[in-house]
Amino acid sequence: MALFKNIIGLIFLLLMQVSCSSDDNATPSLSAPLALNPSDITQNSFVANWAGVKDAQSYVLDVSSDIDFTSFVEGYQALSVNGIYTVVDNLSPSTSYYYRVRAVNGTAESSNSMVISLTTEIPDGSVLKELTQDFFIGTIVQSNRMTGMHHEVINREFSSITAEYEMKMNIMYPSEGVYDWTASDAIVNYAVENKLNIHGHALVWHNATPNWVENFSGTDAEFETMLEEYVKTVVTRYKGKITSWDVVNEAFNDGSGTYRNSVFYQRMGASFISKCFQWAREADPDVLLFYNDYNMCSDQTKRDAVFSMVDDLISNSVAIDGVGYQMHIAYNWPAKKDIQDATQDILDRNLKVHYAELDIRANPNNDQSTLTDARSLELKTKYKEIAELYTALPTVNKYALTIWGLKDNESWLLDFHGHIDWPLLYNNNFEEKDAYYGVLEGLVK
Ligand code: G3I
Repeated sequence: MALFKNIIGLIFLLLMQVSCSSDDNATPSLSAPLALNPSDITQNSFVANWAGVKDAQSYVLDVSSDIDFTSFVEGYQALSVNGIYTVVDNLSPSTSYYYRVRAVNGTAESSNSMVISLTTEIPDGSVLKELTQDFFIGTIVQSNRMTGMHHEVINREFSSITAEYEMKMNIMYPSEGVYDWTASDAIVNYAVENKLNIHGHALVWHNATPNWVENFSGTDAEFETMLEEYVKTVVTRYKGKITSWDVVNEAFNDGSGTYRNSVFYQRMGASFISKCFQWAREADPDVLLFYNDYNMCSDQTKRDAVFSMVDDLISNSVAIDGVGYQMHIAYNWPAKKDIQDATQDILDRNLKVHYAELDIRANPNNDQSTLTDARSLELKTKYKEIAELYTALPTVNKYALTIWGLKDNESWLLDFHGHIDWPLLYNNNFEEKDAYYGVLEGLVK
């Protein structure tokens, strides 16, 4: 019984100790403030907002240019603020910032609020290529579209060009032993004169094979010799000018992932791919070599077949530097996660990513007769999503984000699908659409 009384007495003393030491002026425990969205965002400032906290006498605000708060904005590290908002200024335009806030009462300080992120406004007059520091922003050209407004827009906004069709085999090698460099030389010279990067597209593609090759009359060995001579002649001609080539384009069938039964496959088997990469590397030790294909973010079977081939190239030490995803997509397809997952397959192999032929259908179901404001903004959102995804890639894996056309009425999609659409960044008068600003905003770090 005595022991029991002692225990009760000890518990009572402990409780008294706690209650006595907590005097009437106890510092209240402060809740972390609820950080709210910023307001009044300009190129160089914003207003940080938060909700008040019971018993808070003031607040301290942290603003940083990185989410881990390792690079505080000058003057905004534990800045004491009496109210529940404050202006944050002297910031850089088109830049992401992060803020968090704590409540203060005397010596007591709450834990951090959640982190709020924002991006300051893009300066008026910004252009796409100013915002792409570690990769090219590209578009396509045709040799008869390199003057006037085409020239003006290409050189104001873009840092890279791709020949839409005039650097394919059916154009450069129209008959056996007879090359036609007219258009390809004009485009390469234009790129050099205007200090534009030029991506070579495409050495081997079943859809741009001249008839004499489709109906090649020689032996398989003679076919291979012809193809080697073609690849080496073209790559050598533009060595030091063309920085990258789509060596092979679209070698696999949709859905099944089997090899397309192209004349290249018929004559050389699957080895045509590795041999074309080898020949291109022998012709130019510095040029970046890509495999390029479409529906890579939506056709898992085909993508698996592509990367089985890529892994074979890598394991056999055949030079390949990157993979091009054409990105002929729609405002509502594929989902962002599908694009991220598909792109991860390239990153996992530490290869370069080229979003090579980006256009985004605003009218995939042919149920729109005009580009409504609502659909235009949906298109902007998707362009921004793609630009953000590409911008977020590691620099070592970046090469270019290439838009497959300038103005809507020039898009291949209109003929291919046979109905109206508005898939590009400019309207038919070369005026920037919402989609253009989607890319601009998405390129901001
Ligand atoms: O410009 C000439 C014109 O002068 C001539 O009168 C007319 C008829 O012969 O042809 C015109 O050239 C056409 C060119 O597009 C410009 O419109 C070519 O015949 C035609 O073959 C060419 O089609 C191109 C197609 O690839 C085949 O090379 C498309 O523009 C181009 O957008 C398309 O792009 C492909 C990528 O290379 C690979 N990924 C798929 C993508 C879409 O098919």
